[in-house]
Amino acid sequence: MSRLKVLLLGGTTEASALAERIAEDERFEGTLSLAGVTLSPKVSPLEVRTGGFGGAEGLAADLQQHEIDALVDATHPFAAVISANAATAAATVSVPCIAVCRPPWEEAPGDCWIRVPDMPSAAAALGPAPRTVFLTIGRKDLAPFRAAPQHRYVVRSVDPPPQGLLPDGAVFIAARGPFALEDEERLLRDHGIETIVTKNSGGEATVAKLTAARRRGLPVVMVNRPPAAGPAVPTVDDAWDWLVARHEETASARRGV
Ligand SMILES: NC(=O)c1ccc[n+]([C@@H]2O[C@H](COP(=O)([O-])OP(=O)(O)OC[C@H]3O[C@@H](n4cnc5c(N)ncnc54)[C@H](OP(=O)(O)O)[C@@H]3O)[C@@H](O)[C@H]2O)c1
Repeated sequence: MSRLKVLLLGGTTEASALAERIAEDERFEGTLSLAGVTLSPKVSPLEVRTGGFGGAEGLAADLQQHEIDALVDATHPFAAVISANAATAAATVSVPCIAVCRPPWEEAPGDCWIRVPDMPSAAAALGPAPRTVFLTIGRKDLAPFRAAPQHRYVVRSVDPPPQGLLPDGAVFIAARGPFALEDEERLLRDHGIETIVTKNSGGEATVAKLTAARRRGLPVVMVNRPPAAGPAVPTVDDAWDWLVARHEETASARRGV
């Protein structure tokens, strides 16, 4: 049987789910690519390669070198650089490419969201008066909050931020989702949180903090997503259908049909 060689750009729950499906289906041969930013990533059933490709050019060369038939960008909605590189590289070497991009969260009745375009605007939106702020933005983008030291911060991310990036006096919590609503409510209460700052990542695993904020009447500073780089589907099922269609196409082409 002719197998479709898939390069899966990962680092998300969607990538893990797709990796499972690819590994279990003999029509596909997959490699999962990770940036290498998480200290102990989830174990994958696929072969894993780790680290950057060296920009769009490097990724294009990798696609050619490994004779990849299809590229799936299942990176995070805020991983804008790799997504742009994936779209460019795939177009350069004519490899079909799709992104899996989960829908953003939407404001519900009772929510009080302040939407901002980026992290410096999020820090500015906290205002001059001291507040106790829950930062659930990962560990890369903390610098604007270091520059607003009037606030007291509780920072949560999977791994600790690099030395010197945590705002002075911040409480750090190392945790990986999914997070349960009751735990999020307890965290907001125990730390006396007054405002949450989050990226609009979407998805179920980390949505409970928004429900908890609504229940407590807390404002949420919501950082909007960067624009999508290329064609995208919202779910793992859609990405799977796309892969199956690519397999059928490729198999027909190889049979000369
Ligand atoms: N940003 C977030 O909020 C967030 C949240 C959860 C998980 N993640 C995951 O963490 C990783 C890094 O995110 P980021 O926001 O730092 O990405 P980014 O800014 O878009 O990418 C920075 C560089 O990291 C390398 N890279 C990123 N993802 C890669 C992958 N899957 N495989 C190989 N190289 C990769 C690329 O290096 P080269 O140019 O050298 O190829 C890329 O140019 C992503 O895989 C993403 O899915 C990100």
